[in-house]
Amino acid sequence: QVASLADRYEDSFDIGAAVEPYQLEGRQGKILKHHYNSLVAENAMKPISLQPEEGVWNWEGADKIVEFARENDMELRFHTLVWHSQVPEWFFVDIEGNLMVDEEDPNKQEANKQLLLERMKTHIKTVVERYKDDVTSWDVVNEAIDDGGGLRNSAWYQITGTDYIKVAFETARKYAGEDAKLYINDYNTEVPSKRDDLYNLVKDLLDDGVPIDGVGHQAHIQIGWPTIEDTKASFDLFSSLGLDNQVTELDVSLYGWPPDNAYESYDAIPEEDLQDQAERYNQIFELYEELGADISSVTFWGIADNHTWLDNRARQYSGGVGVDAPFVFDHEYRVKPAFWKIID
Ligand code: G3I
Repeated sequence: QVASLADRYEDSFDIGAAVEPYQLEGRQGKILKHHYNSLVAENAMKPISLQPEEGVWNWEGADKIVEFARENDMELRFHTLVWHSQVPEWFFVDIEGNLMVDEEDPNKQEANKQLLLERMKTHIKTVVERYKDDVTSWDVVNEAIDDGGGLRNSAWYQITGTDYIKVAFETARKYAGEDAKLYINDYNTEVPSKRDDLYNLVKDLLDDGVPIDGVGHQAHIQIGWPTIEDTKASFDLFSSLGLDNQVTELDVSLYGWPPDNAYESYDAIPEEDLQDQAERYNQIFELYEELGADISSVTFWGIADNHTWLDNRARQYSGGVGVDAPFVFDHEYRVKPAFWKIID
């Protein structure tokens, strides 16, 4: 039995993995129990999974993950109460059956806004009441910032402005209680312009009394991007507001952007790439450890290379073929060079 990742970082932060319910068994279940002390659902707790139609709830997959975390004494992150993606369309349809974003009458716009916020509150209340005894960290709002600057022009934003963010956090706090840790989560938080936009939003919300405990940094990174200086600057910036940081969706892609030259198979990946990836993992975990109390949790967005959202992305840009290999366990669950780097 090799050394455990969770044990290695026990004094610094939790080590988590994103999972689909079917991954809790067999070989993957064993890896989860040995190496991780925290779990998050890759898809099973998103609004489209939990409430596909208004008032119709689907708890099966989510409950399995909660059960596994409970049985194995693991922390549980919740992903995600509010997001612009993987949210069913019914949230944004008015009482006449039209899309709220198309409404031009100001009176009806206001009524739509209230209806949408009510639906959001009902969703949050129902979910939080069910899982509050198990979940320790909540992604309350995911990806509110636009890559091009300012706030993302999602349906949430078009219909409610920033009120949806404020109300989401207040509702989560109301039902989850004072001990729950509430996060705003986003990707590319290392990019200076985006991290400044996120900082300005969070600062305004905090000044307004909105209960935010921390920032979730997705950390979908590459071997050569972003720089370690930008990564550190982002953690430091949010720590300066007195907030916690969590690394919520870590993976290290073998490719740059766009991933238009993906390797066709695992066998085609050069050893050199795996060594470079190991150095990158080493660099990033050294930073995480150095930051110590500023980071409470580091979650990988998957377990092993046989299951990663990055495969779809690589295929999309590489003519339909290709694999990525972003984790520290390979496609057959063997430890990779990166594993030894972060253990040692
Ligand atoms: O479940 C259906 C299946 O029934 C259907 O046959 C199949 C056909 O495409 O789709 C399946 O759903 C897919 C789902 O993953 C479950 O596998 C969706 O198409 C696919 O879009 C979805 O992708 C997820 C993606 O979020 C959606 O935006 C990825 O698994 C998931 O890793 C990814 O996670 C996001 C985080 O939530 C937020 N941050 C970025 C991260 C990566 O994109």
